[in-house]
Amino acid sequence: MSKDEQKRQSAETALRFVEDGMIVGVGTGSTVAYFIDGLARMRDRIKGTVSSSEQSTQRLRAHGIKVFDLNAVGSLQLYVDGADECDPNRCLIKGGGGALTREKIIAQVSHRFVCIIDAAKQVDVLGRFPLPIEVIPMARSSVARAIDALGGQPVWRDDVVTDNGNGILDVHGLRIADPVGLERALNQVPGIVTVGLFAQRPADIVIVDGLQRS
Ligand code: 5RP
Repeated sequence: MSKDEQKRQSAETALRFVEDGMIVGVGTGSTVAYFIDGLARMRDRIKGTVSSSEQSTQRLRAHGIKVFDLNAVGSLQLYVDGADECDPNRCLIKGGGGALTREKIIAQVSHRFVCIIDAAKQVDVLGRFPLPIEVIPMARSSVARAIDALGGQPVWRDDVVTDNGNGILDVHGLRIADPVGLERALNQVPGIVTVGLFAQRPADIVIVDGLQRS
């Protein structure tokens, strides 16, 4: 099975969690693109969506799917999103597509977070994929120094401005044995907007190559 087919099958399985009348939280990325295309078939059965990026909003609207402002909706029953890495405790690295801040906000207000991945993203310990961190531009150097002190190698992502007007640092060389602790520690660094570690609020359900694993 090709990687694209693995992603498509995970997205198709996630559609089973969508119920009539729902407002569905929608993530970002190539796996989620398949989910959005599938959601289009159920367009008339759902109330609409809350989107985690301009990219997903465009795709949703192109399918005629309604996109609500999160502030008008409150909490969500279901959030479906991809990830860059997933450990056995369903802790994730996210943000390869740069949408981590809005993704984390939606994950936080959702009762059920269904994560859709292909098998290559399963790891025993997070950190092989560089950890994305969204940073306020004026704190670029100070945040990089703080990350250095924590033992990571920060690399500024060239020419990327997030939907929120910030930059992204990708942190290489981390072996994240304590994802909750590292997420907490990085959240304390002034200038960091969001850490792409989803450990304090992990996924509830992980679908790998179309099969529900947890
Ligand atoms: C975007 C994300 C994506 O979910 C993650 O990068 C996975 O993307 P893809 O489905 O294209 O492999 O966190 O910020």
